[in-house]
Amino acid sequence: MEIHKIAVIGAGNMGHQIAMCAALAGFQVRCTDTNAAILNKAIQFADHYLNERVQKGKLTEVAANQARENLLFTASMKEAAENADLVIEAIIEKLDIKRTLFAELDKICPAHTILATNSSYIVSSKIADATLRPDKVCNMHFFNPALVMKLVEVVQGAHVSVDTVESVMKVAQKMGKTPVLLHKEIYGFLVNRFLQATRQEALKLLDMGVASYEDIDTAVKNGLGYPMGPFQLLDLTGVDLAYHVGMEKYRESGDPADRPSPTIVEKFTKGEWGKKVGKGFYDYE
Ligand code: 3HC
Repeated sequence: MEIHKIAVIGAGNMGHQIAMCAALAGFQVRCTDTNAAILNKAIQFADHYLNERVQKGKLTEVAANQARENLLFTASMKEAAENADLVIEAIIEKLDIKRTLFAELDKICPAHTILATNSSYIVSSKIADATLRPDKVCNMHFFNPALVMKLVEVVQGAHVSVDTVESVMKVAQKMGKTPVLLHKEIYGFLVNRFLQATRQEALKLLDMGVASYEDIDTAVKNGLGYPMGPFQLLDLTGVDLAYHVGMEKYRESGDPADRPSPTIVEKFTKGEWGKKVGKGFYDYE
């Protein structure tokens, strides 16, 4: 199926940049959020980002204007999704909320619309049966910052049609991304399984008092050549996301080992969620 119109649900950390990627690639994009402050921030980002790209010489003024024209922000989910060929959901990492959203989208969207989730860990089969179109519900997982990171993971669970996967892979390619296809559903897909392993080790070393978070970041950057240390990355992707992911896993397994680490719980409770709030492990004011 040819995709022309994309709706992005959730204008937060990931959604606002996914929407911009799609607009830059020539799709007609509508981006929505229930939180007015987040939506306004996304609008400000869009204007600022495109101007900056033009000033940097990375984008022509014509291309920037076209991308901005392609991108509509709206507080109404109905307006965002009612004509979409593809919906990309990028809301909070909570299964029950995602299921409610997908059931609603199923009613709003035309029969042909593909409903994709950008969830970091939740496989789409846990959401698909909240709709009457499970064959059109799949994972399309971007990486933060979505405007920069090339990878998109597309997951073909047993319920997903070949058509759906092919269409989503094509969209990712048109966005200038390098999609990879997972033939089976697995918790955390490919990359977040690696990320989780490094992150858990970093938090364990910190909680054991072996080294400061700054030195752990320095060690990983300079000893492994990673562009960012695990705590810098936590600040970028969001301590709140790490908390919700851990809690979701714990709720499901009941295994105390799956609970977020004490450091994550403390930071989450203090509201030190990372770059987006100005403070996480590091200060961004
Ligand atoms: N948004 C948009 N663009 C950004 C950006 C942001 N937040 N941060 C940097 N950029 C752009 C800059 O504008 C610049 O673009 P240009 O070269 O075209 O002018 C380019 O990225 C390089 O920026 P900088 O020189 O300022 O900074 P760095 O070279 O240090 O790169 C980085 C910044 C791209 C964030 C790099 O540090 C990096 O790759 N970090 C690792 C990120 C990572 O691992 N992401 C995956 C996280 S896991 C995930 O997302 C999964 C999820 O489910 C949790």
